[in-house]
Amino acid sequence: MSSPLQPLLQRHSVPVAQLGGPGPDEATLRALLEAAIRVPDHGKLVPFRLLLLRGDDKLRFGERLAVLAEARDPALPDSKREKERRRYTFAPVVVVVVARIDIGSKVPEIEQRLSAGCVAYNLVLGATQLGLGAQWLTGWAAYDGEVARMLGLGAHEHVTGFVHIGTPQMDVPDRDRPALDDLLGTWTA
Ligand SMILES: Cc1cc2nc3c(=O)[nH]c(=O)nc-3n(C[C@H](O)[C@H](O)[C@H](O)COP(=O)(O)O)c2cc1C
Repeated sequence: MSSPLQPLLQRHSVPVAQLGGPGPDEATLRALLEAAIRVPDHGKLVPFRLLLLRGDDKLRFGERLAVLAEARDPALPDSKREKERRRYTFAPVVVVVVARIDIGSKVPEIEQRLSAGCVAYNLVLGATQLGLGAQWLTGWAAYDGEVARMLGLGAHEHVTGFVHIGTPQMDVPDRDRPALDDLLGTWTA
């Protein structure tokens, strides 16, 4: 009998290079985003927002990252420059999950960032449930001040992840998973 936990037990990411079209239609994307923002949120601060990268702007974004990557490392090999340039072109939609930190709040920053992380995970899980594929990436771009400015992020905003969403172009095998018994203990007094 199928377990209600099957969506969690079977979920796995699809590497971005294996994602392609079609992407979700507008109504489906909106429904996915609506579902994704329902996350635990200490203090109801809503410490996140979403930015969509779509169409030609995905390539434009990658092109700018390639220029920045080369500026950071003039010896950057062509293959790596090309990887930067093309990374955002595979999936039809990339959701930039942005953590926006209320620094005046008594809720610790880590908890606010975790809420934003839940949004990113919900996107991966939700996309998978819709029969799509997704991968959550960060890489250097998520931590680069120049990229943050390019994305229009404020002083207390951070990229939690770039969640690439599309249709898997091939079957992707699952990876090895940790054994629960290696991780599980019971605290006793
Ligand atoms: C915060 C975060 C950032 C990540 N950034 C990257 C990344 O930059 N590059 C990468 O190859 N995988 C990255 N991953 C890992 C992938 O999202 C994913 O976990 C991996 O492809 C295996 O996926 P699965 O365990 O969901 O099947 C990141 C994961 C997390 C949680």
